[in-house]
Amino acid sequence: EKNNEIKEPFKGKRVLVTAGPTREELDPVRYFTNHSSGKMGYAIASAAKKLGADVTLVTGPTSLQVPEGVFVENVTSAKEMYDKTLSHYSQQDVVIKCAAVADYTPVTVHANKFKKKNDTWTIELKKTDDILQALGERKEHQILVGFAAETEDLETYAKDKLARKNLDMVVGNDVSKEGSGFGSDTNEIVMIKRDGSMKPLPILSKEKAAREILNEVLELMGR
Ligand code: CTP
Ligand code: CA
Repeated sequence: EKNNEIKEPFKGKRVLVTAGPTREELDPVRYFTNHSSGKMGYAIASAAKKLGADVTLVTGPTSLQVPEGVFVENVTSAKEMYDKTLSHYSQQDVVIKCAAVADYTPVTVHANKFKKKNDTWTIELKKTDDILQALGERKEHQILVGFAAETEDLETYAKDKLARKNLDMVVGNDVSKEGSGFGSDTNEIVMIKRDGSMKPLPILSKEKAAREILNEVLELMGR
């Protein structure tokens, strides 16, 4: 019994992870997206499962295999990710928002392929709804963890997102650094909590980084 608690500290807990990019359709052959392999999110989902959690993975399009025993919801657009994530929210104990959500989506989606005509093409985009912000506003018992992908002033921007989105922890990573972020198998992250405590980590494999993140979540849960 005691042994199981140590090996599976998330036993009986529901953890939802979002991962990968979203795709915003422009016409039947074109879309807007963000850099994101999905590796970090999938590593968190896999590690949470191994630690005993019931895991739901809401994922945009990636080339990765869903970890065994993880319940998957496949989505494409930011809007679909918003709807799916919110529909699962009330049942979750922990939500970790690792996805690279498109901030803007085309105002007009062309039903037919847009043909080459002029030398320039101006496309109007409108803001998508911020999923994490919506979760923060509706937070009850959940532990809410967000990411902050930055290319400058990491600490300032990450702290701002922590406060503005009502998070319990923000995981910052400087995506302009070598060995950190997009497509890489490693990540250099800093974890910042509401009490202002900061935990910078060295470059780690995404599997090890995932374990570090989940260890902090356990601490936040008082386990
Ligand atoms: N996020 C989200 N919904 C969006 C945009 C972002 O849930 N429409 C989440 C991401 O999954 C991430 C966090 O918000 O956990 C921060 O994303 P990031 O792109 O770093 O910040 P933004 O708030 O989108 O601001 P900006 O891109 O201008 O830095
Ligand atoms: Ca963004």
